Amino acid sequence: MNAFVEVFEVGPRDGLQNEARAIPLAEKVALIDLLSQAGFRRIEVASFVSPKWVPQMAGSDEVLARISRKAGVSYAALVPNARGLERAIAARADEVAVFVSASEGFSRANLNCSIDESFDRLGPVIAGAEASDLPVRGYVSCVTDCPFDGPVAPDRVAAVVRRLAALGVYEVSLGDTLGQATPERIGAMLDAVLGEAPADRLAGHYHDTAGRALANIEVSLERGLRVFDASVGGLGGCPYAPGAAGNVATEAVLARLEALGYRTGLDPNIVARAAEMAKGMRGRPV
Ligand code: HMG
Ligand code: MG
Repeated sequence: MNAFVEVFEVGPRDGLQNEARAIPLAEKVALIDLLSQAGFRRIEVASFVSPKWVPQMAGSDEVLARISRKAGVSYAALVPNARGLERAIAARADEVAVFVSASEGFSRANLNCSIDESFDRLGPVIAGAEASDLPVRGYVSCVTDCPFDGPVAPDRVAAVVRRLAALGVYEVSLGDTLGQATPERIGAMLDAVLGEAPADRLAGHYHDTAGRALANIEVSLERGLRVFDASVGGLGGCPYAPGAAGNVATEAVLARLEALGYRTGLDPNIVARAAEMAKGMRGRPV
């Protein structure tokens, strides 16, 4: 039997948070309902951040209320603070994700605080999630490059992963936020990070600005990673990373993994339909 690799669909969150057009609730729900039929185990569908910072995610509670939840799929929500956690619990998210940065410049731009302050905020969020039996995933942004501070050293990333893992997140997702990483630099970063957390607690979250995300996934597979975040149709970018393109496209990851002989459990026809739907949602005039 071929080895299983999980694709964690993040398009409805990481993708749609960055679209210029205000996407109607019904379109978001239709996309998520189609993705729910594709075989994903986890789909990030919501973000309970400040609506002043990211207006595109303002209706996340309604999204979670209106989707048709499929048994066996975990519907995840991003939370920046205790207020976000309360909203995620009220909306019945199945799991939450917290996020920190390996670079000070991006931490300031994205969370309006230093890396140390962001960890101070996380303690109560993680404790509150545990009290509600909600699994917590942790993202690290800027694992090779920061749009404000430039290249990020692998040992800086490893130090942030160590702190996140110590707080009890079940998996750390390593973000190439800018999408400019090379396989060599991803490999060097992973060599440092693997000293702090085993491969089965790590995921790759690669944006595809420079077109190297699939190569970065391959080098991560060689290091033992078996979870990769992707956005259907290559949706998105990051509102606080100027110039960054979307996540690597789910359909491209699926094709590459299958060509390499891995199993994903995904239905390529449904993923292709969802990719068409996602592409149709972007860039249309309001
Ligand atoms: P702040 O302005 O420093 O702090 O924001 P604040 O506490 O003064 O909050 C500002 C306003 O937002 C206040 O309202 C709060 O009540 C409200 P006002 O008093 O002005 O009327 N507020 C909230 N409202 C709803 N839900 C909340 C919430 N929190 C505060 N949870 C804050 C600090 C963290 C809130 C802000 O910086 C923020 O929301 N940042 C999130 C930015 C973001 O969403 N970025 C994109 C997601 S991360 C990402 O994409 C990277 C990733 O994909 C990995 C990768 O690729 O690298 C994960
Ligand atoms: Mg991202």
